[in-house]
Amino acid sequence: MESLHPDVDRLLLSQEEIADIVKRMGAEITRDYQGKDLVLIAVLRGAVVFMGDLMRAVECPLAIDFMAVSSYGDGAKSSGIVRIVKDLDIDIKGRDVLIVEDILDSGLTLRYLMKNLSSRHPASLEVAAFLLRDIEGKQAAIEPKYIGARCPEGFLVGYGLDFAERYRNLPYVGVLKPEVYS
Ligand code: PRP
Ligand code: MN
Ligand code: MG
Repeated sequence: MESLHPDVDRLLLSQEEIADIVKRMGAEITRDYQGKDLVLIAVLRGAVVFMGDLMRAVECPLAIDFMAVSSYGDGAKSSGIVRIVKDLDIDIKGRDVLIVEDILDSGLTLRYLMKNLSSRHPASLEVAAFLLRDIEGKQAAIEPKYIGARCPEGFLVGYGLDFAERYRNLPYVGVLKPEVYS
């Protein structure tokens, strides 16, 4: 049993559970992308840890690239206006693109990215989300093709997920203690 960071209230996914999920997702992607021209695109910064694991769980040829986006507004992510901070280096026209995200919360980031990337005419465009927020009456507008796990309300940290840029390096996903962010 791994010891939790003192700011973490409870464990949501252990290292072992994460490894099983990634292995399963890698197998699904391997099955679906045989003979395709797969490009994994991770969204900086939260998705880097998942990307590193997922790409090694996929057993067909692939390329990787990264995008960085930022939301406008007063820190709230609900503005729906997303700006590209770092664009792709490679051309995705005619290629089979899979966006790799750590978490789909409101879905605003991903909705923008889907629209932006589809305008570049990839052969296909899908999403692999490690976590999908699953709250009654508050579902994201997008249902990813590949989903790691559904997660409840609460501020999640670890496995790439941050609060104020901290906790990304925790090897598990935990629920942050409310007193840390309130
Ligand atoms: C987080 C997370 C997703 C996005 C999900 O990124 O990594 O990219 O929010 O939220 P949404 O579905 O409501 O758009 P964040 O903007 O915190 O940047 P980060 O990846 O650098 O942490
Ligand atoms: Mn992110
Ligand atoms: Mg963040």
